[in-house]
Amino acid sequence: MLKVNDIVTYTAQGYSNSETVGTVDGYTLFVPLLIVGEVARVRVDYIKKNVAYATVTELLRRSPARILPPCPYFGKCGGCALAHLSYSEQLIFKQNKVANNLRKLGKLNVDVRPCVPSPQIWGYRNKLSLPVRGRQGAVKLGMFERNSHNVVETTRCPLGGDWAAALTSIFTEYCNNNGIVPYNERDFSGVVRHLTARFVEGQLLVTVVSNGEFNYDLRPLERALSHSFDRFGLFINVNTARNNVILGKETHYVCGLHYIEGEHLGVKFRLCPDSFFQVNDGVKDLIYAKAKELLDTSQTQVLVDCFSGIGVLTNVLASERFDSYAIEIEPSAVRDADDLARLNNTPRLTNVCGDVTVELPKIVASNVKKRFTIVVDPPRKGLNENICSTLKQASPNSIVYISCDSATLARDLAQLSDEYAVDYLEPYDMFPQTDQVETLIRLIRRR
Ligand SMILES: C[S@@+](CC[C@H](N)C(=O)[O-])C[C@H]1O[C@@H](n2cnc3c(N)ncnc32)[C@H](O)[C@@H]1O
Repeated sequence: MLKVNDIVTYTAQGYSNSETVGTVDGYTLFVPLLIVGEVARVRVDYIKKNVAYATVTELLRRSPARILPPCPYFGKCGGCALAHLSYSEQLIFKQNKVANNLRKLGKLNVDVRPCVPSPQIWGYRNKLSLPVRGRQGAVKLGMFERNSHNVVETTRCPLGGDWAAALTSIFTEYCNNNGIVPYNERDFSGVVRHLTARFVEGQLLVTVVSNGEFNYDLRPLERALSHSFDRFGLFINVNTARNNVILGKETHYVCGLHYIEGEHLGVKFRLCPDSFFQVNDGVKDLIYAKAKELLDTSQTQVLVDCFSGIGVLTNVLASERFDSYAIEIEPSAVRDADDLARLNNTPRLTNVCGDVTVELPKIVASNVKKRFTIVVDPPRKGLNENICSTLKQASPNSIVYISCDSATLARDLAQLSDEYAVDYLEPYDMFPQTDQVETLIRLIRRR
């Protein structure tokens, strides 16, 4: 019988997300940071019935796919679950992950294309979000450890670029030199909870998330930022909620840029600090361009982009030949979307602020008998039964679905499968080194 702290020899036989799975003495073991085929001595950390979780103490048989990740925090920080796998194997892992989820969770046998690589496999993130912990004078910024809320100090996370490393060091120094008290999750005391930032087209927006009013002098931070960044904006977000949500509802402008301005795929945009924006610019552009290619809008009378964010994709797809609607729940993103439509003189576009579950049925009901084209790009929880049945009611010839979670995707495709067949499905590596994968799908109406 296995006991906690036992050291046993383990062979990795398969994957469950990024963890490997194997059996020892009749127990199913889950072990992270191994590669299928590898043999290791592992220590049992936790047992529940006949399932156990363990960590590697010694690698006995090494996979040829194993590489040494160029990251000093690998293994300690919970951020990158696949950095020990060569990049070509990461792409195969992701293709298999999507295919397995579709088969096991959706009972769907779909042709999954090879995963499209990211143009950049390190330094690709345009977004930084770091918890601020430690104590006054010894503030730590970093990622959480795997399965824990202990912060591993990451002064130079290789997923961010040089900008992220410079900002992390500027902010740590600012906190330590100005007596700033970091947040304590145990008793909810302290002031600074998180540092978040976006860096797109050479412009930086920095948001300090504060546990209530922020009464410290921000001028030293402004000065330090201006030495390293030509164009930046600074904001304070207030979040007093006793939960893990990073941003609160209130964001106050402090100085510098109000928003980032840019142009992607011919669409000019303005981006506020709290609106959603895909984290990997290179892969985002590949997905949007392919989504446009996949959608035949020659017969379209009404286009609806559901979960539209600030609306770059909506504007890539909109046309003077048909009415377009974009549905987004976050008011700041809808304000950005309104600016974007004005900046681009986008014809016949209406931005709707609301829940897709509520707003899509209204749009469908007010456009009876029109030919729809619909795009959905939901958050990880995917669609729901009501949205799936509204999609069927609108009965577009094709639906483009952009998914960031292949498990909920599998459930949704199964739900739609009586009326829609998948005719294209391609994973995209939006998040290299992690086990996350984006998938682009086109569904075609069966009748
Ligand atoms: C994965 S993002 C996609 C955004 C956009 N399509 C893009 O590519 O940037 C999902 C978006 O859906 C929004 N959202 C989440 N739940 C929603 C809901 N129930 N109704 C409308 N929008 C929602 C989020 O605020 C977020 O902007």
